[in-house]
Amino acid sequence: MSKVFASLGMSLDGFISGPNAAPDNPLGDGGLRIHEWVENVESWRERQSIGGGESNADDAIVRENFARAGVYIMGRRMFDEGEQGWPDPPPFRAPVFVLTNSPRAPWVRQGGTTFTFVTDGIDSALAQARKAAAGKDVQISGGAHTVRQFLDAGLIDELQIHLAPIVLGKGVRLFDDVSPALTVEPARVIHSSAVTHLTYRILRG
Ligand SMILES: NC(=O)c1ccc[n+]([C@@H]2O[C@H](COP(=O)([O-])OP(=O)(O)OC[C@H]3O[C@@H](n4cnc5c(N)ncnc54)[C@H](OP(=O)(O)O)[C@@H]3O)[C@@H](O)[C@H]2O)c1
Repeated sequence: MSKVFASLGMSLDGFISGPNAAPDNPLGDGGLRIHEWVENVESWRERQSIGGGESNADDAIVRENFARAGVYIMGRRMFDEGEQGWPDPPPFRAPVFVLTNSPRAPWVRQGGTTFTFVTDGIDSALAQARKAAAGKDVQISGGAHTVRQFLDAGLIDELQIHLAPIVLGKGVRLFDDVSPALTVEPARVIHSSAVTHLTYRILRG
């Protein structure tokens, strides 16, 4: 059975995005710093069609995630920011299911990425994603509102936090209002000078 995992960048003070995030201000005020470490990573640059970059411990983690993810699920606010910023082909190279209350026809991009808009909730999105994943894993991409629903429903097997050594002070927190019943077990820690990669197995949602 394929796994469901979430993988998010976070500031040291717990924010996955700064305040005032909007399509013309992706990741909010100062929030792009959360992902600064990835910008020079070879596998990420490949998926952005930029080329170059370094093959190091950070790269190995990004490469591993791209390889295991057969499909992605995200919330509409994350999609709205990416719609303007992602290149064509977008970095996913796989089906993407977007949770939203606004129906929209599928948006087909190059490289195997089709965005399908799901208006009947997380169970439906996950059922469609599992079917499309062809045995690979399902990645819940974000944002916080979306990941929290999957955590609370006990539908995530593994949570990765890529902790950037920066402080934002304000923004969108991942764990606000998540049930304290959530129980996790540390599974892996890898760090470089730019970021600390934390992996937790979810024992109970
Ligand atoms: N640090 C990271 O790694 C990372 C990763 C991903 C995203 N982000 C950031 O996170 C921020 C967005 O996070 P967010 O928590 O504000 O929003 P989000 O989870 O991206 O999107 C929330 C929206 O998705 C739709 N939605 C979610 N669940 C739904 C459901 N069950 N049924 C129907 N629609 C549903 C609703 O859209 P509508 O009702 O409006 O249609 C809702 O307003 C962005 O700034 C993004 O850049 C950061």
